[in-house]
This record gives sequence, C-alpha cells and structure tokens, in this order.
Amino acid sequence: METFDWKNLPFGYVKTDHNLRCFYKDGKWGELIVSESEYIDRHIAATGLHYGQEAFEGLKAYMGKDGKIRLFRWEENAKRLVSSAKGILMAEFPVEKFKEAVFRVVQLNKRFIPPYGSGATLYIRPLLYGSGAEVGVKPASEYVFIVFVTPVGPYFKGGVKPVNMMISRDYDRAAPKGTGIYKVGGNYAASLRAGIEAKEKGYSSSIFLDAREKKYIDECGPANFFGIKNNTYITPRSESILNSITNMSLIDVAQSLGIKAERRQVPLEELSEFTEAGACGTAAVISPIGKIFDPDTNRVYEYCKDGNPGPVTMKLYNKLTAIQYGDEPDEFGWISIVD
Ligand SMILES: Cc1ncc(COP(=O)(O)O)c(C=O)c1O
Repeated sequence: METFDWKNLPFGYVKTDHNLRCFYKDGKWGELIVSESEYIDRHIAATGLHYGQEAFEGLKAYMGKDGKIRLFRWEENAKRLVSSAKGILMAEFPVEKFKEAVFRVVQLNKRFIPPYGSGATLYIRPLLYGSGAEVGVKPASEYVFIVFVTPVGPYFKGGVKPVNMMISRDYDRAAPKGTGIYKVGGNYAASLRAGIEAKEKGYSSSIFLDAREKKYIDECGPANFFGIKNNTYITPRSESILNSITNMSLIDVAQSLGIKAERRQVPLEELSEFTEAGACGTAAVISPIGKIFDPDTNRVYEYCKDGNPGPVTMKLYNKLTAIQYGDEPDEFGWISIVD
C-alpha cells in the first residue's frame, strides 16, 4: 500500500500506476489496453474537442475492515454511460466491457486504495469521447474509452458537516429536453460560472432551479437535492437532472428504515417546510445543507440550527456508508468484491 497522508488527501488527481484504454474503430471496440502514461494522443479535429462528444462516470472502490475491496453498484454507472452515449450519439461502451475495465484498473492499482477507517477512497473515472476527425457538426466514427483511478481524501475532514448553498437564477446548467439527464462534459462547463460565483460569495455550491419556470428545485451543483419533512424523503423529479445512483440508493435505504420516499417536483417555497435538506452524490454520499440563501428575495432557509446534520440525514448516511464499506450486510445486493 502506498503511504499517503490519507486523511488529508484532497479530492484531486494523484498519479497512479496504470490506466486502461479501449478504441472503437470500423464499427467495433478493440481489446482493453493497459497504459502507464497519463497522456493521450488526439486528432486535432476530434469531435470530443470541438463538439462536446464526451461523457464520463464516477464511482469508488472502498477498502473494508475485512481487507476486501468493494465496488458500489458499478452496473448502474455502466448503464448510465450507455445512456449518455446514446444521448449524444457516441458508440456505446458495452456493460460487460465496462465491468472488465473497472475491475482490472482497480486490481492494477491496489496499492493506491486507501485503508479502512481513513475516510479516503479510490475514485474511479471512466470516460468516453469522440476521437474521429470531423469538421462538420456530426457524430464521429471513432471513439476512445479510458478509465483511470485516483485516491481521494475524505470529503468531510473531521466528520460530516453542514454546508451552505445559494440559489442560482442567473445561470442554468441544463434545459428540459437538453442534455441534463446525461453525464456529458458540456453540462459541467455550463455549471462552472454558477459554481464559482457561489464560492466567491462564500457558499459551497449553487442550487439550480428548473430552467423553464424557475419554480422548482433541480440540482445542487454536481449533486441531487433532497429535503425531509414528516418522516418523508423528498427529491426532485425533473427532465434536466442526472439520475444520481446515490439518490436512487438513499430512496431504497429510506424505505427500508421506515422513512417514506417521494420523487416529484419540489417547488421552491417548499424549502421552508423541510426540517432537513441535503445534497447527495458519490463524492460526499450526503452533504447536509445548513442554510440556503435566495439572493432574489434575501430569504435564508435554515436547517441545521445547532450546527449538526439532522437525525434522518445521519441515519441515511450511516446506513449507506456502512453498506459501502461492508460494515453492514449488503441487503440490497449492491456490492461487488474485487479479488
Ligand atoms: C450533475 C450531477 N448530479 C448528481 C450527481 C450524483 O450522482 P451519483 O450519485 O451517481 O454520483 C452527480 C455526480 O455524478 C452529478 O454530476
């Protein structure tokens, strides 16, 4: 095992030993190729560079107390990458090949998997882009799939802490019937200005409203939103948000704990009715929201008045992370062991 200061590792890029690549040419995918290089050679007219034919995924490998390496719902990431590829007309990377690539890249970089208890994990980043040369706006005929890993530090150093967020009305991340439901690079480029503005104003993230009416909650930066009221977990249904695997899982976990779950439109005014709120995604599992500021009305919605995450949030967080690390039985069949 590599000796890093695991607890203080940032959520950033660290070079590891190997990555994998796979090339699509003449209508078919080739074999997975192991590489030690951090660089790729690209055609100057690749559609991934010009027209945003690019999609990616993010998942993690967790080291258990028992020394076993666990992957969480990798198949959902594989299926989402297929959906993203379909959404922007790229060659689909087959689910079984995705499995082989992800398991192999973890095996090849075992020494970078952070130890149990450090809170750090091995982040896995698969990506797919159009590599074929085109100048007209059309899909490429050649594609590249890459998967690399990087150890990332605990999202919250020193325990789960509430964060403050700001409503963004000046920018939209995605539009209904656009690409918000796909994990494509363009959505993230479109979200950067709102995210930076929120940070400059002292907030950890921006909250996007639905682009059409600005009436409903869409997403919290690169994470889904949820609110809690009356023992119910409520999360937005929207045509322009990414279907978070963490969110899907929290809905099942909530129901297994006797908490009701609803996926429906969440009007902005409902923020005042929630007793707890949070953002969920692979990176943090849950970021409890302390306050939400609405710059249009100067309203502040406050959830964690004592500075601590709420009880339902913590119940959900503890249960899901216990499954991911193998501390509790995998009652949902979400875990795969990497030998
Ligand atoms: C825009 C967006 N929403 C939500 C999520 C959370 O999704 P997941 O739980 O699958 O990581 C992510 C991260 O992947 C994201 O980028």
